Amino acid sequence: MIRIALTKGRLEEKSVELFGKSGYDTAELSDKGRKLLFRIKNEDIEIVLAKAADVITYVEHGVCDVGITGKDIIMEYGSSFYEVLDLRFGCCRFAVAGASSLKLFDGWQQKKIATKYPKAANEYFRSKGVDVEIIKIDGSVELAPILKLSDAIFDIVQTGSTLKENGLVVLEEVCPISARMIVNSAAMKMKKPEIEELIGKLSLALEKF
Ligand code: PRP
Repeated sequence: MIRIALTKGRLEEKSVELFGKSGYDTAELSDKGRKLLFRIKNEDIEIVLAKAADVITYVEHGVCDVGITGKDIIMEYGSSFYEVLDLRFGCCRFAVAGASSLKLFDGWQQKKIATKYPKAANEYFRSKGVDVEIIKIDGSVELAPILKLSDAIFDIVQTGSTLKENGLVVLEEVCPISARMIVNSAAMKMKKPEIEELIGKLSLALEKF
């Protein structure tokens, strides 16, 4: 049996659609109510629905063999598993944003950066050799520079409308983000045939996705 953790919310619909296109019966998942654990009909596969960061926890602890979550979550919370497929949906990017007048890298004063992703933000600014103060925020990060809690934000940008509607602009593009398939390191060895079959089916469906 393999157990797969899917991310609830933003990535859920596309993930379920991809499994359907890969030949798996997803009827129960498409009409799920508040249920969180499903058995795929005629397959030795269980699906659980979890919060993005918890997908990583379940896969790293080996209670789920496979996970689907965003690259942003992997960069922030991930440490040891295999990242096997770029699913090419849930596309957005990491960016630094602020008021258009802000000169992010000018001046001697340390800049304050608000973010839901302190680890990823730290790594980015360290790679640039810039010393910043990171302030962790749980959501609606765009508020932080408006309220003058921070100079700028480090966040995901998809359509750009949240930035625009709050008078902010992208100051630095960081990297592209999309949904990824991850596999527990032990499961990759112990359940190789089943995992390879799953990767094969998803890859094939992805070509026409
Ligand atoms: C994300 C992100 C931005 C917004 C970007 O927030 O943190 O706020 O989406 O999307 P856009 O470029 O299409 O406007 P999310 O909707 O996940 O909510 P949250 O801030 O409450 O976590």
